[in-house]
Amino acid sequence: MDATRQRFLMCRPTYFAVDYAINPWMDPTAPVDVDLANRQWEQLRQTYRDLGHTVEEITPLPGLPDMVFAANGGTVLGGRAMAVQFRDPQRADEAPAYRAWFEAAGLEVHDPKHVNEGEGDILLAGGHLLAGTGFRTAHPAHAQLQEVFGYPVLTMQLVDPRFYHLDTALTVLDEHTVAYLPEAFSPGSQAVLRRLFPDAVLASMADAVVLGLNAVSDGQHVVLPAQATGLAAQLRERGYQTIGIDLSELRKAGGGPKCCTLRLRQGGE
Ligand code: ARG
Repeated sequence: MDATRQRFLMCRPTYFAVDYAINPWMDPTAPVDVDLANRQWEQLRQTYRDLGHTVEEITPLPGLPDMVFAANGGTVLGGRAMAVQFRDPQRADEAPAYRAWFEAAGLEVHDPKHVNEGEGDILLAGGHLLAGTGFRTAHPAHAQLQEVFGYPVLTMQLVDPRFYHLDTALTVLDEHTVAYLPEAFSPGSQAVLRRLFPDAVLASMADAVVLGLNAVSDGQHVVLPAQATGLAAQLRERGYQTIGIDLSELRKAGGGPKCCTLRLRQGGE
């Protein structure tokens, strides 16, 4: 398996906190260690650098504790960026900040007409854009994504509130393979996934509830939560090299490595 060099956008968790609850992972009464969150995030960034990837950073803004989850900042593919529109008002002001970053980076920016939470719900896999809906990204947003990017968009119906974004239920491993938790999808979406990816890695609930599927693969190395030991073993059996990262503090907001990472794709790679 060949690794491809990636370009990522990340946002330091300077103002990270859990002071509202917009998913079942978030408990505003539980303490959060912001310094530890920052150290864990730095370790993720260092891991990417050690793998030869480039990490760009967007300046974090006070009052936006979830801005660390850069995957929700947009969808970037082939010189175009689809900006986002959050479901929840608490995250609304992140959208223009990410949009401005895309413009400054010279991308052709498209504005969303519907709720669209970026790469949290939109993943390029096997020549298709897999697009989650059910909790965050609205179904009509999928048609707009197809128009903007010119990739066939396949709707994935999410059914378990713990796996509220597609990237908490499914990981793209390479051009041909994904890993996913079947129970997180409707029966019809499970059937589509079986048809599309007959060789997929099927994850267990035990690995999914530590956000094991919120992983980042370069086609050879898979960076995933350290606690997802069963999934890591399954991936190693398939020939991937796994790198476990402890993001325990960010998980208190419902996020893992992938949530912290937006792929800046030049072409359709
Ligand atoms: N607290 C954030 C939210 O609920 C977490 C976002 C995680 N991001 C992701 N790509 N899954 O919106």
